[in-house]
Amino acid sequence: MAETTVAALPKGFRSAELGWPELHRIPHPPRRVPLIGDVLGANVRSPVQDSMRFGRRLGPIFRRKAFGKEIVFVWGADLAAELADESRFAKHVGLGVANLRPVAGDGLFTAYNHEPNWQLAHDVLAPGFSREAMEGYHPMMLAVTERLTDRWDREQAAGHSVDVAGDMTKLTLETIARTGFGHDFGSFERSRPHPFVNAMVGTLTYAQRLNAVPAPLAPLLMRGASRRNEADMAYLNRTVDAVVRSRQSSSGDGDLLDRMLETAHPETGERLTPENIRRQVITFLIAGHETTSGALSFALHYLSRHPDVAERARAEVDRVWGDTDRPGYDQVAKLRYVRRVLDESLRLWPTAPAFAREARQDTVLGGVHPMRQSAWALVLTVMLHRDPDVWGADAEKFDPDRFDAKAVRARPAHTFKPFGTGARACIGRQFALHEATLVLGMLLRRYELRADPDYRLRVTERLTLMPEGLRLHLERRAPRPDSVPVRPVARTGD
Ligand code: HEM
Repeated sequence: MAETTVAALPKGFRSAELGWPELHRIPHPPRRVPLIGDVLGANVRSPVQDSMRFGRRLGPIFRRKAFGKEIVFVWGADLAAELADESRFAKHVGLGVANLRPVAGDGLFTAYNHEPNWQLAHDVLAPGFSREAMEGYHPMMLAVTERLTDRWDREQAAGHSVDVAGDMTKLTLETIARTGFGHDFGSFERSRPHPFVNAMVGTLTYAQRLNAVPAPLAPLLMRGASRRNEADMAYLNRTVDAVVRSRQSSSGDGDLLDRMLETAHPETGERLTPENIRRQVITFLIAGHETTSGALSFALHYLSRHPDVAERARAEVDRVWGDTDRPGYDQVAKLRYVRRVLDESLRLWPTAPAFAREARQDTVLGGVHPMRQSAWALVLTVMLHRDPDVWGADAEKFDPDRFDAKAVRARPAHTFKPFGTGARACIGRQFALHEATLVLGMLLRRYELRADPDYRLRVTERLTLMPEGLRLHLERRAPRPDSVPVRPVARTGD
């Protein structure tokens, strides 16, 4: 099958010159090298951070070319808002997302808009993300968080620092596996990452690297990587098949897997096929943990660097949770300031840092850039979230008060897009936000977070973003004596 060979360009890849007749109006980096393109100063390991650098220099719309593939990037808020208009634009499955097709096929994330399995799976699975469903997942999310705090208690007692991204990945993988599929990967009982995580990181990294290699040379340059990728995909498939098989002898109480296996479409009566279920399970196991783990890790980094913010968030947790160490669903939803910390972390480092949009018919972007039907652009969320016209001259500064209700109301629509946009926006948004707010609340409640003064934030890229080498020192907070009056939270803005 063409999609599984490294020689093939992602299906449907359309270089910008095919769809943008006035491409010359869009700036590109200086020193473009004939045939090769804009590769000077570019690093295959950090395409997003390279694009951020180019974006700062070239402005709200720019293009980059590598080995004959030219891409238009957009990060200016006005242009990004246009691209969010669902009547003119739709999701484009291209680049890294298309490169994941061999592993995730027509699963929800990687499905082309016209594939019937998208609507079918969306309709069958959407109730699995309702408020009632979230309330049902809450006790399991809490139980997994307690596994994490057990582990961190032991590390702290032994005087060790903690590996933030590694442990957040264990936590989010266990959470989606248990809530969605009744499966226990036993991550906290392992000293190393579960092989599922290694295989997943392998396929994500491979999908990212494929973009940076000239297509004709891919079979040669990527031969070893391609073999490893085949092995990683086979491992992911085997794991998922085992998860599905074990369900045949047990019940999942209406979890995502139950829905996939047993629910017929309410109107058409159609069901997902076994092959599609395999694709969906892989999709959810990956999409359901990798980005949330990064979001939590960045938030913990910022909390450790901003003790004033951590103190204010902690005071809110104490106030809202009172004496209970096992908060209920509503007590998590009420942590407004903690949620702002999370939003502000996702603003600066949206862990899915870009999404692609294509024109439904011929149109003109920003009144000056004609686009033919199917022409597409990559919205660079990580720069949209730093557009000084929207976020001010101090856009690079971490400040959760940007998300107080008044400030949010004052901002134009479509300026904060960590979960994508439109019909193909993230189905797991509420799941991720509830899980991450719960975890941050539990950690703030239990520990003081101490940053290593020598650590400088480095961001590693594998389609998603993750802080690299982040370790924190913990101090256990004294248990709260019942008699201590709870300090009121400082101004929360709503
Ligand atoms: C902080 C955490 C998360 C972030 C930042 C995030 C981000 C995104 C983004 C940007 C998209 C749209 C991609 C595009 O337009 O190409 C997306 C789609 C998706 N996400 Fe998430 N996500 C997160 C958590 C989750 C969770 C927890 C789940 C599942 C439990 C999930 C499942 C999905 C799925 C299935 C899609 C495809 C939806 C569709 O096209 O119908 N995500 N996510």
